[in-house]
This record gives sequence, structure tokens and C-alpha cells, in this order.
Amino acid sequence: MKIILVAGARPNFMKVDPIMNEMEEYNSKQTSKRNSKYILVHTGQHYDYNMSDSFFKDLEIHPPDIHLGVGSGTHGEQTAKIMVAFENVCFEEKPDLVIVVGDVNSTLACSITAAKLCIPIAHVEAGLRSFDRTMPEEINRIVTDSLSDFLFTTCRGANENLKKEGISENKIYFVGNVMIDTLLKYKNLAESKIKKFSNLKKKEYALLTLHRPSNVDNKKTLQEITEALVEISKEVPIIFPAHPRTQKMIERFEFSNFFQKPSNFLFSQMKGIYLLSPLPYLEFLHLMVKAKFILTDSGGIQEETTVLGMPCLTLRENTERPVTIKEGTNILVGTDKEKIINESLNILNGKGKIGRIPELWDGKAAKRIIEILIDKYINQK
Ligand code: UD1
Repeated sequence: MKIILVAGARPNFMKVDPIMNEMEEYNSKQTSKRNSKYILVHTGQHYDYNMSDSFFKDLEIHPPDIHLGVGSGTHGEQTAKIMVAFENVCFEEKPDLVIVVGDVNSTLACSITAAKLCIPIAHVEAGLRSFDRTMPEEINRIVTDSLSDFLFTTCRGANENLKKEGISENKIYFVGNVMIDTLLKYKNLAESKIKKFSNLKKKEYALLTLHRPSNVDNKKTLQEITEALVEISKEVPIIFPAHPRTQKMIERFEFSNFFQKPSNFLFSQMKGIYLLSPLPYLEFLHLMVKAKFILTDSGGIQEETTVLGMPCLTLRENTERPVTIKEGTNILVGTDKEKIINESLNILNGKGKIGRIPELWDGKAAKRIIEILIDKYINQK
């Protein structure tokens, strides 16, 4: 049994890590005849040290067995490059199963390639829907799910979405959230080990991430958000590790004056918006745990803050992760300046949302995935 596990972009790495660990755990208990060999393929969608290598280092993931090195491009270019390169890998390796995670272009490209070669696909984090097809990830989710043979979901709502799309119930498994497996495993270490931000006091800053094309590629929208952030930063300093795309757009739109670039992580004046490079996993987790609240347009951070019990304001009009609103600490504030400011002030005035941890977000999702794959697939071969 040969399994290919695909990772390509930053939000994939913390999702493949627990799956690989469980696979190794399973192999360690088998006779060598029954071992499953897994191969980690990195598409190279993300390639900067802080967007990729640093995650391998922090999470002690062994280096990818195969690196496709595709890099950036338009959606068509990037997807096509991954498909061509991944097809060659499949010809060479002849896998029995391809596991993809999340909703990035690498997920889509490798799913289409595997499906055309009649290789079964397992999709981890299936069934999430924003119902907004202007969002590139929504297209990736719908196509990947339609091609998958095993659909592993993070919440019961995702099962319902898949059933409504006509996907057979016996392909769908509600297992919990692998990203939370990693969060729970590393939370304490991140809190104790990272010393770089020691002059930031607990709950005395807000943390911000922003990278959605709909937020950062449009000058008017980015300006509206920036103006809100400037107002909030008069009350509480904002730490902003910015995605490369966002850094480029800030420069292009000549918004750099709104941001400060701290040297040696000394946030001396403790006012304003501090622009940093993207951070490695443990450093970012450390900042999340200690923050007063988080502003973000990321998908994963909405889930991580829910588990940490940390108030989260999501700068989007919709979310594919409604469980973080219904049960967690998340509030959708869109890109309206007044709404962003008002909800931030609410939190600063002690009225942050309190939530609970969603069902099965307990650190054991990868274990369930591997048990299901062994029972329903590996042992049947
Ligand atoms: C991708 C995912 C998104 C995820 C995000 C997390 C898709 C469609 N989107 O968006 O779901 O939330 O990753 O980061 O797959 N760049 C660099 N260095 C890098 C990577 C990217 O400079 O290591 C720059 C490039 O100029 C590139 C741009 O960022 O053109 C966008 O990268 P891309 O992978 O296309 O999409 P993301 O915006 O990162």
C-alpha cells in the first residue's frame, strides 16, 4: 500500500503533520509486510522560508520526499504546473491512495490529477462552504469534494453540505479537525519556548492577519480596513505579521506610512500597527495565545481562536466555518470601518464573545482518519 500525502501552502503543513504521525504509529505496530508506505509531496506553491520551511522545522516534519517546486503564478498557471508535475509523480510512484488537505490550489490540482488516473482520493477538511464562488478556495473545495472517495469533515454542518450536493453518505466521515490536533500538541511549547516577544504583555495587544485577494488586492477595501486599524491602534497596539501578497499591495498602494516596522521585535512606543514578516508556526501561536483579540481574514485562524477561547473578528462578509460563529468566539465584521472599530472596542471594554469548543475538536482527528482508512480501505486491499 503506497499513499501520497500532498502539501503545498502554509495552511497545509500543520494539517499533514498529525496524519503522518498517526501513519507512523500504525506502521510501528505492523509486521513489515502490512506496512503502508507514505510519500510526502510538496508542490512548492509556497516557497519562502517563513511560509514553508519554518513549519517543517517547528513541527519537526521530515523533509518532503518529492518537491515539485512550482512557485507562484496565476490560478490557471499554478494549477496547471502542479497537475503536470504531479501526474509524473503518480506515473512514477503508482500510489494506491492520494490524501489532500484543505482548499488551496495544490489541493485542487492534485485531486484532478489523481481522479483522471483513477487513483482514490481522501480529502481532509471536506464539506466546508462559504457559498461565495468569487472566493478561489470555494471552487477548490467544491471540485475536490466532488472527486473524492473519502471525505473527512470537521463539523456536522459540512456533512449536510456534502449530502445536499448529492455526495453519497457512505463516503462522508465526521472526524474532527486535524489543525486542532497540531494546535493542542504545540500550545504549551509555544507559550513557554518563544522568548522573542517578551516585551509584549499578555492581553495588551491585538494580533492581525490579512491576505485574502478580496481584501488586499483592492485599493479602496484595503484603505477602509487600514483606516479602521489606525483607529483601533490608538487604543491598543496591533501586531501584524503580513503575508507576502499583502506586503506587496501595501507598497503598491503607498500605504506603508500607516505601519511601523519594529527592529529586533522591540515594540517600544506600544502604539500603532507593527508590520512584521510572516511568522513561523510556534511564534505565531505564541502571539495568538497572549493576545487580547485577533483580527483576521484567514480560515484556519477562525478555528484556532475558537479553541483558544480568544475573541476573533473576521474581516470577511461570509465564512465557510460557521461553527466558529455558532459555537465559538468568532464574529463576522466584514470590511466596514465602523463595524470593525465598534466590535474591537466592545472587546476592549470586556465584552468579547465567549464560546465553546466544537464537537470532536479534541486532538484526535488524525487518529480517527487513519483508523477509518485502515478499516475501510487498507485492510480491504
Ligand atoms: C494561498 C491559498 C489560501 C491560503 C493562503 C495562506 C489558494 C487559492 N489560496 O493563498 O487559501 O489561505 O495560501 O497563506 O491556494 N508569495 C510569496 N511567497 C510565498 C508564497 C506566495 O511571495 O512563499 C506571493 C506570491 O507573489 C504569490 C502570492 O503571494 O503570487 C499569492 O500566493 P498564492 O499561493 O497564489 O496564494 P495565497 O494568497 O498565498
